[in-house]
Amino acid sequence: MSAFAAMVKQMKALVLSGGAGTRLRPITHTSAKQLVPVANKAVLFYGLESIAAAGITEVGVVVGDTAEEIREAVGDGSKFGLEITYIPQERPLGLAHAVLIARDYLGDDDFVMYLGDNFIVGGITDLVEEFTRTRPDAQILLTRVSDPRAFGVAELDPSGQVIGLEEKPERPKSDLALVGVYLFTPVIHEAVRAIRPSWRGELEITHAIQHLIDARADVRSTVIKGYWKDTGNVGDMLEVNRTVLEGLDRRIDGEVDAGSETIGRVVVEAGARIVNSRIVGPAVIGSGTEVRDSYVGPFTSIAEHCRITDSEVEFSIVLRDSSIDGVGRIENSLIGRHVRVTTAPSVPSAHRLVLGDHSKVQIHP
Ligand code: TTP
Repeated sequence: MSAFAAMVKQMKALVLSGGAGTRLRPITHTSAKQLVPVANKAVLFYGLESIAAAGITEVGVVVGDTAEEIREAVGDGSKFGLEITYIPQERPLGLAHAVLIARDYLGDDDFVMYLGDNFIVGGITDLVEEFTRTRPDAQILLTRVSDPRAFGVAELDPSGQVIGLEEKPERPKSDLALVGVYLFTPVIHEAVRAIRPSWRGELEITHAIQHLIDARADVRSTVIKGYWKDTGNVGDMLEVNRTVLEGLDRRIDGEVDAGSETIGRVVVEAGARIVNSRIVGPAVIGSGTEVRDSYVGPFTSIAEHCRITDSEVEFSIVLRDSSIDGVGRIENSLIGRHVRVTTAPSVPSAHRLVLGDHSKVQIHP
């Protein structure tokens, strides 16, 4: 092993997969937001793959109420080439709180902190290499956004040194928003111990980093060129899905009958069946799913074991074991697991709904 590879190997990753996921309700009432699939693969898996690609093997995964589900999906990490240790967090008390409880696991190693619901195209390999080579006290990732008020925002001096951070400022000092990947040396441990909870009752990582800046620590930043999204809400989720699907290579492993047509970047997984239907890519159809007498339009992921019959679905994500039958056109939608969308009898003319807490339905009057 080269000296450099040995240095990266010493580094750990801390992946945050707890949290409440209030913005993705009702999906997150029953499942972890980090496991919502993008192009039929959990958001979290893309992050774990990037960490493995950067040469890091030891990963601490912070888990909360959805611990069981995350453990079941990720296991011991061997399928990603990682050694995973689970770190339970009793409540989502903030990103800096996650660092606080991971103290023993992290020891005196440098680490990359990765928010499990964030999506970064292009990976983190270059960043980890740069950090390992230059080794500032901390390094944050930034991206330019059109409306910084919804993000953590950084102020830089002309040399790129970070001079201030603000959480969701009303009057942002720049258009540089914090991306959910941070690189830290062990000095962060003193900082997370020194800060107090914010008005929302959380130990904020921005406060911990500001504490380092105030103590004249070397906090650097990199503006990423690649694509980044926090998949916290439905709109972002659909957008990330669209971006990933655009990079898809066409692959038809399932069954497509003579009456069907698949156009462009379409993946039909083995065990899927397309009958008398039209699939316009980019789109992915999971194994065990049947699409019959239907149209599945661009930017759509249909997960495993679904049935789409006599319907049209476009720019949407459908999670596994759901069925959509005879309902016309569905667009811009995120449909959970084991959901049934069907027609109503024509008399009486009324909508009949069984919706979980926090569901959102838009109905034509
Ligand atoms: P956030 O999206 O900031 O918080 P959240 O999961 O509570 O979501 P919402 O705002 O919709 O209620 O969290 C970023 C990531 O960090 C996400 O993967 C959850 C995780 N997280 C923890 O593991 N522990 C925590 O204490 C917090 C706040 C978040």
